[in-house]
Amino acid sequence: MQFSMLVIETKNKLKEVLSKLDDNLSLGLVPTMGALHKGHASLIQKAVNENDRVVVSIFVNPTQFNNKEDLDKYPKTLESDIKLISSISKDIFVFTPAVSEIYTDSVVPKIYDFEGLDKVMEGEFRDDHFNGVGTIVEELLTIIKPTKAYFGEKDFQQLRIIQKLTEIQHIPVEIIGCEIIREDHGLAMSSRNERLSKKIRQKAAFIYKTLQTAKNKFGMENALNVKDWVINEFQKNDEFELEYFDITDVETLTPINNKINNVKYRAFIAVYVEDVRLIDNIALN
Ligand code: PAJ
Repeated sequence: MQFSMLVIETKNKLKEVLSKLDDNLSLGLVPTMGALHKGHASLIQKAVNENDRVVVSIFVNPTQFNNKEDLDKYPKTLESDIKLISSISKDIFVFTPAVSEIYTDSVVPKIYDFEGLDKVMEGEFRDDHFNGVGTIVEELLTIIKPTKAYFGEKDFQQLRIIQKLTEIQHIPVEIIGCEIIREDHGLAMSSRNERLSKKIRQKAAFIYKTLQTAKNKFGMENALNVKDWVINEFQKNDEFELEYFDITDVETLTPINNKINNVKYRAFIAVYVEDVRLIDNIALN
């Protein structure tokens, strides 16, 4: 390996390396599926700032994909990922296990009761997606035992589910939510943005602009009116197909029509453009 960073492929080796660390050192974990961009980099930078040692895992987790084609198409860019990680710090452990290292018997997810958090939005049409996410994250937290683990608000529903996972499985770790990193014009960073044409990638700023206006409107109107306004904006713009727009309570992720004082809300959106599915969300109050 051309970098001084330690790239580790097995659980046993990782456990051995971690067991040699001084007990009072803090350890940060950043789970990823690779194809790293500035959004991931911001999580890694935050973990480096807040911990004595950091593990970044790169593992394309088969049990969270509900479609084999999506799994096969997932970009694999290990060399440039390692370059990006080492540009942040050379002192990071990179964990890149094979599928057989993680799923020793069969490649199936554990089934969790996430108290409904997994049944809406990203979970509604993707059976077992969040069970798959829970399975891999629980395994990583169990092997690595980090002090803090970092997740992006880009996948806010995932972040809430991981918080629930640590609560129901009694895993002693602090889950840190990290702000969404955006392209200059506002589109949330994602490896999927690479699949958009240049023209549409610029135009996709429309998604975040719509969220920002929805946020302003939410200060004055009820949720149902804001939702109708968003649906109408998308009807006027036929290059973008709205899959869902929901305003939910941040705790339960239950979609609401009317707001209650002192409850925190967030708006969530999923959009198809040029056959690419993009998601984003914004805090409303
Ligand atoms: P992945 O899509 O690789 O994302 C890894 C982490 O980076 C997630 O916590 C995600 O929310 C965060 N992230 C992605 N884009 C971001 C952006 N623009 N701004 C801020 N954070 C961003 O999410 C997964 O992998 C997997 O489900 C995983 C948790 C690793 C389990 O397999």
